[in-house]
Amino acid sequence: MAATGTEKQGDESVKAFYVSTPIYYVNDAPHLGHAYTTVAGDVLTRWHRQRGEKVWYLTGTDEHGQKIMRTAEANGVTPQEWCDKLVEEAWKPLWEHLDIGHDDFIRTTEKRHTDRVQEFVQDLYDKGEIYKGGYEGPYCVGCEEYKLPGDLIEDEQGVKLCPIHKKPVEILKEENYFFKLSAYGPKLLEFYEANPDFIQPESARNEVVNFVKQGLQDLSISRSTFDWGIPIPWDDKHVIYVWVDALLNYATAVGYGADQAKFEATFPANVHLVGKDILRFHAVIWPAMLMAQGLPVPGKVAANGWLMVGGEKMSKSNLTGIKPQDLTSHFGVDAYRWYFLRAIAFGSDGSFSWEDFTARYTSELANDYGNLASRVAAMVGKYFDGALPEATAAGDAEQAIQDGLAKAVAESDRKIGEELDFQGGILAVFDFVKQVNGYITEQEPWKVAKDDSPEGRARLATILYTAAESLRAVAVLLNPVMPETSRKLWESLGAEAGLGALADQPLADAARWGQLPVGATVTKGAVLFPRLEEPKKDA
Ligand code: MSP
Repeated sequence: MAATGTEKQGDESVKAFYVSTPIYYVNDAPHLGHAYTTVAGDVLTRWHRQRGEKVWYLTGTDEHGQKIMRTAEANGVTPQEWCDKLVEEAWKPLWEHLDIGHDDFIRTTEKRHTDRVQEFVQDLYDKGEIYKGGYEGPYCVGCEEYKLPGDLIEDEQGVKLCPIHKKPVEILKEENYFFKLSAYGPKLLEFYEANPDFIQPESARNEVVNFVKQGLQDLSISRSTFDWGIPIPWDDKHVIYVWVDALLNYATAVGYGADQAKFEATFPANVHLVGKDILRFHAVIWPAMLMAQGLPVPGKVAANGWLMVGGEKMSKSNLTGIKPQDLTSHFGVDAYRWYFLRAIAFGSDGSFSWEDFTARYTSELANDYGNLASRVAAMVGKYFDGALPEATAAGDAEQAIQDGLAKAVAESDRKIGEELDFQGGILAVFDFVKQVNGYITEQEPWKVAKDDSPEGRARLATILYTAAESLRAVAVLLNPVMPETSRKLWESLGAEAGLGALADQPLADAARWGQLPVGATVTKGAVLFPRLEEPKKDA
């Protein structure tokens, strides 16, 4: 049996599979879009844990910069007070509510971060990678980014707008420090060429490659017109540009400059999950910063698409009032975790609708999956007093189920574990659930039950063992996506007594047939996916 992630977790001789989310701006409470990326990272890391790998999952908050400063001012509190309140009252509680199992939560106002950021920037300055210069250009505070004139759109009055926020840009003129980003274009192109999987999906990769091919400008890495940031160590009239500060979280959180053993056992990230709006920062600026410092660059930057509302990127201003909690209180946390990954191909944009969620919940979760679990438990209860019987009369139909399971395990592991195709991986498991439902419909155990000859009993036992053993594997495969549901199913199958904890079941072993011990106590546990109540009219 493969070693479990838990055993390897503290072992610094093993490099962790390190996944990060973007660190989110705390100018407001989290919304569906933030939760989308964070759930995806949680599923990915749970998947790798279930494989028996050592894993590190990092999330956190981006707390400096003009955007946060202005929000705090508008609310009559200091930026630090604003961040403290939102992190404690909104961000951390939501991740707990959604069962996000991050290993660390970094805040960019923490000393463990700010000290190391100063050291990193000082180092680059000492190496001659940073120089003083002037810059004037259109700046979007929403993006915290200077825009190229060609990137802007215009409204009907000819006012220049940020294409993402659709808000007017400000013309900033500053004397700043610059990082020699332009020097890294050729190295970056060489790197993309040698590592074709570095940027995912393909369309995102092409966009970045074309952008870099056009030639990079040097990057302004300081600001002197406001002070909510980390001071430039050699010139405290300037603060460090919020994006340079933020990107460094991926290093400072795992021991950069502080705990070398941990740093080497964790860094660089295997996967940076990002929204497609912040792809260039992660796929261009971040690797260039690391190259300049002689540090290893990440394995992959995976860009997810946007959750859309009314044809626009979902943001706090166009949420139409839907909070993650509004959905979880109606559909449950596990269904919420499942839905967005199931319904939207990762990398593409997608819209949310109550109708679509309701339809999929009812047909795929409640009817296909939930009913299968409750029918099987009920029949083992009714025909065998809740003690799992032995399969002594297996034939072709049972072999087909075993083959179907092997396919589901191999496919879901490749799709979720390797390709970040969450939708494809989930579908592979649900196809197997459908296959088991079909098997029961064909075998008609309720009819076989009427035959109490030894052959009839053996056949009935075989059908029910086959179905229960299939569910054992489904509980393991869906544990990363819907941990609470898998826990309930594990309990209902009486699996723990013979097989141990669900989290310790290696994925590589999931297709090995015959693991549920004969005699296991099967009980009709809680309904996995209760019937939905009528949604509120105003929702
Ligand atoms: N603070 C920066 C990131 C710094 S990382 C070193 C930032 N924060 S953000 O809060 O504005 O948004 C971050 C991420 O939230 C997006 O890139 C994306 O991953 C997620 N999303 C925010 N809105 C989203 C949608 N409407 N749809 C999908 N994801 C979205 O940018």
